[in-house]
Amino acid sequence: MKKIIFILIFLFFAAQANDFINQRQDTMKKIKELVQSSNTLLKERKFNNQLANIYQEIAILLNEFPNLFPENSLISPSRAKRTILEDPLNFNQLAQEASQNAIMAKSAIIKKDLSLFFNSNQKLLDQCNSCHSRYRY
Ligand code: HEC
Repeated sequence: MKKIIFILIFLFFAAQANDFINQRQDTMKKIKELVQSSNTLLKERKFNNQLANIYQEIAILLNEFPNLFPENSLISPSRAKRTILEDPLNFNQLAQEASQNAIMAKSAIIKKDLSLFFNSNQKLLDQCNSCHSRYRY
């Protein structure tokens, strides 16, 4: 009986960890899709509300992303490095800065300030890579 309870507890925590991993990977997949939709609109030079909303959504997802890293969730199939738990302040800051650049890109579209828009968008895309190279396998 003890063994069964132990196994059930183990399975419960494993399922919980997996839930966070799925949420993280789904968030990132969604962000990637949003960036792709943005590229399509940009090719057509459509600096419209739809484009502004894309950046709003990216900002919200990046802002919430650091909340998805409980202690026991940095296991396979996650590709997140343990450094995130050892260095949470830097990791959170990077996520916040990326989120703020997305907000900046959004308000630049609304103000029709294209140079500010391209500047913020480029910074945001650079931050995808810099976070991945530091915190992802
Ligand atoms: C603050 C850090 C950070 C930023 C900024 C960030 N990412 Fe990520 N990303 C991660 C981490 C960590 C993972 C691995 C998550 C895991 O496997 O648990 C990841 C995973 C991914 C994945 C793989 C998802 C999968 O299928 O498993 C994609 C695609 C991705 N990111 C795209 C992006 C794009 C595009 C941007 C910029 C707009 C971005 N990311 C910005 C940290 C970040």
